[in-house]
Amino acid sequence: MKLKASAILLAGGKGIRMGESVPKQFLPLAGRAVILHSLEKFEACDAISEIILVLPEDKIDFFNQEILSHRIFHKLKKQTVGGVTRQDSTNSGFQWVDSTVDVVIVHDVARPLVSSETIQECVRVAYEAGASLAASPASDTIKECNEQGEVVATHSREKIFQAQTPQAARYEILKEALEGAYEEGFQGTDEASLIERIGKTVKVVVTESSNIKLTRPSDFVFAESILNSLK
Ligand code: CTP
Ligand code: MG
Repeated sequence: MKLKASAILLAGGKGIRMGESVPKQFLPLAGRAVILHSLEKFEACDAISEIILVLPEDKIDFFNQEILSHRIFHKLKKQTVGGVTRQDSTNSGFQWVDSTVDVVIVHDVARPLVSSETIQECVRVAYEAGASLAASPASDTIKECNEQGEVVATHSREKIFQAQTPQAARYEILKEALEGAYEEGFQGTDEASLIERIGKTVKVVVTESSNIKLTRPSDFVFAESILNSLK
């Protein structure tokens, strides 16, 4: 069965930790803006039927004139304004999603190295299990500490994963999770945490650690070296 998925691409942040005057999603990576890399990945993916792009309110004109310019993305259905938190931005994008899709997939534009395989697999697993997220196995042993910085527990590494995006869910499940979070004043840092809260299964799609998020300047150096090694 061919699944139909709507993608919410999150580019509504300010990129404070990057320390540049322009938010990181608009900075160049290997010759073109980070946001274009992410748009291209989702545009090219068979399972994706539409893209909702979430942008900072004061950057919509800049994005269209300076970054998007003459480029055409056929699946880009809507540009909308983000909110104060990442969750607010997801919720804002969700309002424009075609309610007949099988799955909604949310992705941080700041992760431009995501592979088509990961996107497809997140959609497929979300449809089967209800919800999914890309994650990489922890490579270090994880210590849990108290407020004094004293170790109180050591967690078995085999069960620890680092959450990334994409994060996907069946349309109805993400709707229920978002509505529940706002009704109860809950803010989560990712979609999975909202879905876990309502007691639904979220399944991990194991990805390469190269699906990095561009957070600080050194991440651009790392991302460019990964892109060069793929050439
Ligand atoms: N994001 C968003 N709306 C927000 C906050 C974040 O759409 N209110 C998006 C960012 O644009 C990014 C992704 O969510 O693609 C992951 O967030 P993060 O890496 O934290 O980006 P920023 O919030 O922009 O960076 P910082 O936290 O350093 O300010
Ligand atoms: Mg942030």
